[in-house]
Amino acid sequence: MSIHPQPSPAPSETVIRLEDIERRFGPVHALRGISLSLSSGRALALVGESGCGKTTCARIIARMDQPTAGKLRFRERDVTVIGAPQDERAYRRDVQMVFQDPFSSLNPVFSIDHHLSRPLILHGHAVGKAALSSAVSQLLVDVGLDPAVTKHKFPHELSGGQRQRVNIARALAVQPSVLVADEPTSMLDVSIRMGILELLERIKREKNLALLYITHDIATAAHVAEEIVVMFAGQMVEWGETRAVIGDPRHPYTQLLLSAVPDGSRPFVRGASARFVEQAETVRALSRPPSTAVEQVGANHFVRSLAAPD
Ligand SMILES: Nc1ncnc2c1ncn2[C@@H]1O[C@H](COP(=O)(O)OP(=O)(O)O)[C@@H](O)[C@H]1O
Ligand SMILES: [Mg+2]
Repeated sequence: MSIHPQPSPAPSETVIRLEDIERRFGPVHALRGISLSLSSGRALALVGESGCGKTTCARIIARMDQPTAGKLRFRERDVTVIGAPQDERAYRRDVQMVFQDPFSSLNPVFSIDHHLSRPLILHGHAVGKAALSSAVSQLLVDVGLDPAVTKHKFPHELSGGQRQRVNIARALAVQPSVLVADEPTSMLDVSIRMGILELLERIKREKNLALLYITHDIATAAHVAEEIVVMFAGQMVEWGETRAVIGDPRHPYTQLLLSAVPDGSRPFVRGASARFVEQAETVRALSRPPSTAVEQVGANHFVRSLAAPD
């Protein structure tokens, strides 16, 4: 079964905006000029290989890290600098994160009921025993788990996929407006990944969430995200409407990512020798210094120009 992101019925508004974000770790320039925005009811996929800066970007959005330059805006307000404690608390509630590892993110000594009750109580979303119990049940239903079976289990009694669903339920418990999912399926069995992606796409629509979906697997981006940003070495190299970027990739790095996807799941297929030539070209192109010039190649499709070959 294939799923297609549908337009959100509620009007979409920009919730998070990154403007020219830089992050240096000593000599490592992890992020260079990252500018993107997340809108309610829509998903943006951040795609690139390990080490390209995806998690750094996620941590800056979740305020677990700070940029060395650039601006972070939340509903147009500049929140780059750490604010008053109550503002920070509100921000941390509004912006929730789901991590790669579903095994380490739940506490083994607490039941699933406890994991979901805590945020509901903390944020005052359920008052009284009966209301709390039905709120926990509803969260589990929302993420496709059976409350009667799941509630009283402990994390070790669940599969990786079920645990990741509990992590998503826990994020939803605080009623966030932004969800950052950092490679949420990369540690899960291949056979259950699609179910998690379908869940993310559905809650994005139903809860009108602004979703940042981070992945190294470009083929999955189209299942979840209307927009895509392809990153290479800390820079955005190609971005725009997912269909345009995946259907007509212009940057050699995007082409390389797509050529690694098994045939059949990409919109076009080429012969092996053509692919080999393309990849050799790609490696040459990517070894040139990065360029600052950006070319618009479609209504919502942008490509960073390659530096001229020497
Ligand atoms: N806390 C840190 N200290 C030093 N270097 C870091 C730190 N976090 C990330 N980096 C470096 O920044 C780059 C991007 O890392 P990361 O954002 O984790 O990439 P990704 O999530 O795409 O794999 C890497 O070179 C990584 O080694
Ligand atoms: Mg990462």
